[in-house]
Amino acid sequence: MNERDSEIMAQLMEEASYQPVSEPENADVIVVNTCSIRGKAAQKAYSSLGSYKKIKGKKPGLVIAVAGCVAQQDGDNLIKRMPHIDLVLGPQSIYRLPALLETVRRDKSSCVSTALSSSFIIPPFLPDMEDAAPHKRFVTIMQGCDNFCTYCVVPHTRGREISRKYEDIIAEVAHLAAKGVREVTLLGQNVNSYGRDGQKGQTHTFPALLKGVAEIEAIERLRFTTSHPKDLSEELMHCFAEIDKLCPHFHLPVQSGSNEVLKRMNRKYTIETYLEKVNRLREISPGTSLTTDIIVGFPGESAEDFEQTIDLVKTVRYHGAFSFKYSDRPHTRSLSFPDKIEEEVKSERLARLHELQDEITIERNREFVGRRLEVMAEGKSKTAGNQWSGRSGSNHIVHFYCEKELKPGQLLEVLVEEGLRNSLRGRLIP
Ligand code: 5AD
Ligand code: SF4
Repeated sequence: MNERDSEIMAQLMEEASYQPVSEPENADVIVVNTCSIRGKAAQKAYSSLGSYKKIKGKKPGLVIAVAGCVAQQDGDNLIKRMPHIDLVLGPQSIYRLPALLETVRRDKSSCVSTALSSSFIIPPFLPDMEDAAPHKRFVTIMQGCDNFCTYCVVPHTRGREISRKYEDIIAEVAHLAAKGVREVTLLGQNVNSYGRDGQKGQTHTFPALLKGVAEIEAIERLRFTTSHPKDLSEELMHCFAEIDKLCPHFHLPVQSGSNEVLKRMNRKYTIETYLEKVNRLREISPGTSLTTDIIVGFPGESAEDFEQTIDLVKTVRYHGAFSFKYSDRPHTRSLSFPDKIEEEVKSERLARLHELQDEITIERNREFVGRRLEVMAEGKSKTAGNQWSGRSGSNHIVHFYCEKELKPGQLLEVLVEEGLRNSLRGRLIP
């Protein structure tokens, strides 16, 4: 989501005649796009902002702008804390970046634009593809989230859920396809509820959107992220069986294996209903690889709760998992929850989970040995001669040798010969 926002801001600035420079010292404007999802990400944003203070000292005309979730969450406090910042803009204001920069430069005063309106409409936007067209792109289909998981800052920084107009999404994907893009990933905090936010003129559900995008001929692969388990419908599961272009990979964040913890996280499902959905998905589309997100050390997570997460991971045997130590975020409900878990305990739990998931990932990767996979070429290794890498529909990195020059985005067939820790290795089938 942030990566896509950065692309949009870069394009808007180029359209307003700004040119990119390679060193911050040479810039007239620095825009820092920030993420606030976990404490570490926000810390990174503060330290990069801090590092620009020196440059501003030497070059007082420099304009420093902060975009994204840290900007939204801190608003004018950011400028109070770091007076070298000139412009603070929230996620709904990124489309006004050039105009806001003009205001700041003209008035020589700072500006904060962090209004979040539920009637905001994501503008139609056709990406500039003048540079060597990459073969895969992200397309934002909705912004914000209505779920209010108690640990999560997103509903507070990105506001209420707003779906983009069906026609705008189709037009954007068709434009990308015409410019050489072969794979798109549809982005939203909870794509399952696309079109259900009651916005005027919303005519399509998420499965209908997937079908519409799949009809664009030059698009060969379709992915999406992220999906909330409580809203995962039978109809969406059937899309994996019905839409050939939809890649067989599902990212379904579980967050915890304990019903008690899930309740306090306000996730609105139980492990039993989660597992029912996983089993049903595997029945409908057996080849689909499954990945997840897990938080360890949520306030009040007992040793027993954590064991339930371990058991869940052993039961589902995810192809991969992203796991994080819980961190307090501003504005969230869990900020005031009692029984915070000590850092050391969180670290121990995280290490155990990593170790278990690594074992399972390797086992899962080895299950691919002997299978033929369709791989989309990505690039040639910089160090290992004719070694190429690509991505399978299941979202695995696949390495293979090829004497010929390949075009990124080209689809090939690879026989998997080895399952490694983070990737697969195989032989190109001529
Ligand atoms: N602490 C730790 N992890 C978090 N995530 C979201 N908020 C927090 C938090 N406060 C994780 C969740 C989510 C992923 C994007 O980030 O697992 O799915
Ligand atoms: Fe955050 Fe929950 Fe919304 Fe995901 S579904 S963005 S975790 S509030």
